[in-house]
Amino acid sequence: MPRSTEDLLTPGLVCDVDRVEANLRRMQRYASEHHLALRPHIKTHKLPALARRQLELGAVGITCQKLGEAEVMADAGCADILVSYEVLGERNLWRLGALARRVRVTTVADSPEVLAGLAWAAGRAGVCIPVLIDLDTGYHRSGVATPAHALALAQQVAATPGLELAGLFTYPTLPETGPRLRETLQGLAGCGLRAVVVSSGGTPGALDTHLVPEVTELRVGTYVYNDRTMVHRGAAAPEDVAVTVLSTVISAQEPERVILDAGSKALSSDLVQHDLGLGYGEVLGHPRAVIRRLYEEHAVVDMTGCGSLPRVGTRLALVPNHVCAAVNLHDEIAMVRGTEVLEILPVAARGRSR
Ligand SMILES: Cc1ncc(COP(=O)(O)O)c(C=O)c1O
Repeated sequence: MPRSTEDLLTPGLVCDVDRVEANLRRMQRYASEHHLALRPHIKTHKLPALARRQLELGAVGITCQKLGEAEVMADAGCADILVSYEVLGERNLWRLGALARRVRVTTVADSPEVLAGLAWAAGRAGVCIPVLIDLDTGYHRSGVATPAHALALAQQVAATPGLELAGLFTYPTLPETGPRLRETLQGLAGCGLRAVVVSSGGTPGALDTHLVPEVTELRVGTYVYNDRTMVHRGAAAPEDVAVTVLSTVISAQEPERVILDAGSKALSSDLVQHDLGLGYGEVLGHPRAVIRRLYEEHAVVDMTGCGSLPRVGTRLALVPNHVCAAVNLHDEIAMVRGTEVLEILPVAARGRSR
């Protein structure tokens, strides 16, 4: 195993363990102070070791976006998993039922079709599946559009054997979230129904969650590593960024261009949202450098105004725009302290998008 970051193959993921630990502790402290249950979303790190650390620090369970991630985490000993995704299709419903026989699995629904599938899965597996009603509170992704729709689905859950109404689910926490949740909770109470859990999430607004007192549970993923988007949005400081993509200069062309061995297959092509001018990632130590173009295995960096070009063979650390997408591209991650490589971990749930 490589002992030093100098010996790591590039392009590759490098994780500063002390920064991760600080990020985990900060969020747990916030959640505990505000009596919020923390249920971290593992879609960012996809590492059993970090999921276990989050639980050790006080998380009530974990969130997975996809069943495949949940299966990996259940194998790793996570006993309480929220699958924050509408599960559909017979094969997936079998998988959900099988998972629910091994660990506590809660999931979400925003249509009668999804609920019918969940009821079928619960019946086949002989389990009871807790369900959160997915309510759109302004983001316009999944989630029923109105409190009335949420109420209708909640009543369907309450009337369906094998399903249990666990509460409400939304993403992310927005200014409209509070009033929407309040109206829905009042509607539920009027029908004698209760949402024990009100789950919301997203790193950018995480530390303001207490301003929406209806929320009981916080789902955050990106906070564990942070990235250029989080720094750009003011949700993290540059010192909170824990993961970089280590790359090598494979070509330097005067006067202003260097080419790196990290392309879209190492960094992802994601941009910082709404800001096309920032390029495809940050080159640490060269604040004026712009990654202008990405090919599959090449990054073209414009170093105008950066002084002399780094020499061929120089290793450069890149901060991805969107760390979750970048992590998913790598089989392994080097856990480091300074330049010392402590261990190299397989990114166990990488690619588990089914
Ligand atoms: C349903 C759901 N919950 C929580 C999160 C966590 O968001 P973040 O990575 O900003 O913390 C996400 C992110 O995609 C999500 O889709």
